[in-house]
Amino acid sequence: MHQPINVLFICLGNICRSPMAEAVLRHKVRAAGLEDRIRVASAGTGNWHIGEPAHPGTREVLRRYGIAHEGCARQVTLRDLQAADYVIAMAQDNLRALRQLDRGGVLDGKLALLLDFAPQAGVRDVPDPYYTGEFERVYELVNAGCEGLLEHICREHGLSAGTTA
Ligand code: 4NP
Repeated sequence: MHQPINVLFICLGNICRSPMAEAVLRHKVRAAGLEDRIRVASAGTGNWHIGEPAHPGTREVLRRYGIAHEGCARQVTLRDLQAADYVIAMAQDNLRALRQLDRGGVLDGKLALLLDFAPQAGVRDVPDPYYTGEFERVYELVNAGCEGLLEHICREHGLSAGTTA
């Protein structure tokens, strides 16, 4: 029996981008039959929206693509960072905030930007739809990043779709 692999997505408010990434990756993990192997969560670096459901724009885009979403906003803790195997930030300002939280190098080797896994997108940051309203564009970027991230995790851990051992 293997320990689950923990993926934690991070944005600022945990109501727009990181809950979308959480739902999209979980959907892909389920479709690949890997839900016993890969756990997915999200959190924000800020505390303004703790306890709130995802933004209506995020819920609407997920609904349109037939992707389930559960949960409500929370603020990241040092313990979350310790427990995660992959800490995936939506943008470079989230990376900087996470590095300020880090104690004792808990982030070493875990931290990446989501779009590092979608170099074809040609951008490094997932733009914040809280300000732009561009939830569809954000979905396309998040979907591409999650596709690449899942392939990366499967390669690193010798997993393939349908693996249950
Ligand atoms: P998110 O978007 O980081 O993608 O959840 C934001 C949500 C709320 C705020 C900023 C960004 N805010 O300033 O309240």
